[in-house]
Amino acid sequence: MSNTHKVTFVDAGAPVEVPTGSTLTEAAHQCGVDINQPCGGQGRCGRCVVKIQSGEIRRRSTLRLTNSDVEDGYALACQAIVETDVEVYVPPQEKIQRRLVTDLTARKVTVPEGYDPQAHQTLQRYCLSIDPPTMDDQTDDWSRLQRALRQETGLERIEISLHLLQQIGTILREGGWQVTAIVDTNQGDSEYPASVIALYPIHFPSDKPLWGCAIDIGTTTVTVWLTDLLTGQVRAQSAEYNQQIHHGEDVISRIIYDSKDHNHGILQNLVLETINNLVEKACLRAKAKPEEIYKATVAGNSTMIHLLLNIPAANIRLSPFITTINHLPKFKAAAMGLRLHPEASVVILPSVASYVGADITAGAYSSGIALTDKTTLFMDVGTNGEMVLGSKDWMVTCACSAGPAFEGAGVLDGMRATKGAIEEVWINSQTHEPSIRVIGGGKPRGICGSGLISLLGEMFTAGVVDKSGNVNTNLDTSRVRSGDHEGEYVLAWADETSHGKDIVITHVDIDNLLRAKAAIFAGYMVLAESVGVSLSSIEQFLIGGSFGQYINVEKAIEIGLLPDMPWENFQFLGNTAVLGAYEALLNWQVNEKINQIANQMTYIELSADNKFYDAFMSALFLPHTDLTLFPSVAKQKASQ
Ligand code: FES
Repeated sequence: MSNTHKVTFVDAGAPVEVPTGSTLTEAAHQCGVDINQPCGGQGRCGRCVVKIQSGEIRRRSTLRLTNSDVEDGYALACQAIVETDVEVYVPPQEKIQRRLVTDLTARKVTVPEGYDPQAHQTLQRYCLSIDPPTMDDQTDDWSRLQRALRQETGLERIEISLHLLQQIGTILREGGWQVTAIVDTNQGDSEYPASVIALYPIHFPSDKPLWGCAIDIGTTTVTVWLTDLLTGQVRAQSAEYNQQIHHGEDVISRIIYDSKDHNHGILQNLVLETINNLVEKACLRAKAKPEEIYKATVAGNSTMIHLLLNIPAANIRLSPFITTINHLPKFKAAAMGLRLHPEASVVILPSVASYVGADITAGAYSSGIALTDKTTLFMDVGTNGEMVLGSKDWMVTCACSAGPAFEGAGVLDGMRATKGAIEEVWINSQTHEPSIRVIGGGKPRGICGSGLISLLGEMFTAGVVDKSGNVNTNLDTSRVRSGDHEGEYVLAWADETSHGKDIVITHVDIDNLLRAKAAIFAGYMVLAESVGVSLSSIEQFLIGGSFGQYINVEKAIEIGLLPDMPWENFQFLGNTAVLGAYEALLNWQVNEKINQIANQMTYIELSADNKFYDAFMSALFLPHTDLTLFPSVAKQKASQ
């Protein structure tokens, strides 16, 4: 028996030779064929489907395939082990819809009150008139420049890179000793001396913008705010899907992908490309140049930060879940692969733990939880339910691996909130017929997170599912049927959809959603218990993350995703991470405060906590086993 096999991808040129036991995704990688792997190759998402035209493969998992798919030769590429020579057809890969254009995501940003670039900004621009050397004053160029800077700024310790040192002799003379220096004073950070970032042989006009940018690296979306540091105004915003998304929709999938030998470094390149493209886009809009950006602040979860720096992230998902680094030193843009000014200072905001990253510390600042007297719960809705409970005096934090179900992954017809996604559902409790609202109008293609919350709430209210999430297949409607994976509900018939297939929610999907919401709710419970407060004593609930803005609070309470409290106590804040990064970009004291927040937070590791497991099991019901926690839902049910 041969130890290698030929894998031919239809329309992809020459076959590749792979060792027995390789997966089809490995063969595809070798052949340069693109196959989306939203779950990072774990067999969970079902999006890497290919068709075997000839030859034999072994299917490690068929969880996301129907029996007839398997009979027709379909397989999950990540789960298909090559056993003979095979010929494989890869269906056209679903392109990620790009709805996240700036105009749709741009938000109004108010410059913090009292912003004073002289007092708050570490990046300064100085127009210098330097005494030229003479036979009587033979001070060297660098000392001469330092002397002028000291006179202008009062700074004592000033450094310069070798690269710039190689150029200053020319620049000083070319400018006739009239130069503009861009200096990072590093104020508030005694570890670093001030450093000259750039030197130009000209005096810049005083109204020329001084550029910096705030970057948030989300698992799903990357956002860049290009800011004039002289006025504090955000002059352009750009946002786009993180290009890593093809290799995993959640952090665990990305870590798994990155940990495979032949993949190491790929995710770093993809996120750098995403950021660099966004910077370029923002610059085009603001008539700036990337090389004129001298400072950046970065927020992002711990995995995103590790991948950005190409630091192996594997230990983040292995017990006892330790990051390589939480408090990062400053970097120069060029050393990181960022296309800004090569010497630009890049500040990466601090993380607390593997699953409480710089997105949360930045968000804890910008949401105001770290400044309020009120007992507050702050949550960033994303693939991990990361949350902070506290006030200005104390904060506890945890992250529960909710998985990406509410982002549409792990759900058969789940999709992102883009055109064609069902975002709101109503079910008639007599006929069980649904009405739907679709993003962008037209025929639906799938269901996004807010649609799933709405759908689950309506199914529960209309009696399509019971409190355990089981579909009631005895209902007198063709919408409910027994599918390949137990009971399912048809939300749209094939002739009503854009892809000509029924859109359904299956028992497996409901199970995934219940687990996700139970993990999040158990997180609230454990945090609250850990400090001896009850959920009902929480005075405000702040929700960050762009997905949060579209959540229907009523439905989210109905299914037990949000605690039962007056609706006015919920506030949706949008992207709190980029806002925190922006505020830190403007003010070194904010940067310091975010570092204090990171040190002040007490992290609770839930995987080692039995209380979490108990709370999770109790929350696996709609809305919860303990209905006293959901008085408004209990009242509504009793009146039905
Ligand atoms: S099932 Fe294969 S990548 Fe998700």
